[in-house]
Amino acid sequence: MQAAQLLELIKTRRSVRKFTDQPVDQALIDGILEAGRWAPSGANNQAWRFVVVRDPALKERIAQCTRYGAVVKAAAVLIPVFIHKPSMYHEAKDHQAIGACLQNMLLMTHAQGLGAVWLGEILAQAERVRQILSLGPELELMAVLALGWPAAGNQKSQRLPLSELLLAGGD
Ligand SMILES: Cc1cc2nc3c(=O)[nH]c(=O)nc-3n(C[C@H](O)[C@H](O)[C@H](O)COP(=O)(O)O)c2cc1C
Repeated sequence: MQAAQLLELIKTRRSVRKFTDQPVDQALIDGILEAGRWAPSGANNQAWRFVVVRDPALKERIAQCTRYGAVVKAAAVLIPVFIHKPSMYHEAKDHQAIGACLQNMLLMTHAQGLGAVWLGEILAQAERVRQILSLGPELELMAVLALGWPAAGNQKSQRLPLSELLLAGGD
């Protein structure tokens, strides 16, 4: 892929919160997990762990843990992303690595024509989500990716201009 194509992929990715009923092939989910797995991490500790949720009853219970319940229920697949606490070595760096992992997954989702949104508000109920998924206390929820085939196009998003982001002090 050329640099211009990569930038285009990054810039055209939008948070998708409305999905069609069309199922998502496991091969596409595998691609998303593969992209996440290849994210960088401090000391290459790879503290991310994933769950793939398709079951409507499970989705319904997870939906009750967030204000974005409608998004959760509409998504064909949820990928709750956890950090494996025994693998951590530096809190900030480990959390940054999870962010890199999630962004890799979002970009792969977009590259495959799927849509996704990174759900963070659900962290208010992180423990409940972990228990719904019958996972142990060594895992802590970092985000839920809700994904599926996008129902609505043309979502808009803005970014601050670079002139507001670039600080003086360099050369
Ligand atoms: C850490 C984080 C938490 C987020 N939490 C939510 C959320 O709980 N619900 C939601 O609808 N979108 C959530 N988003 C998506 C952002 O609202 C979205 O990325 C931002 O508005 C920019 O829009 P874009 O992704 O379409 O470019 C979250 C994004 C990040 C990175």
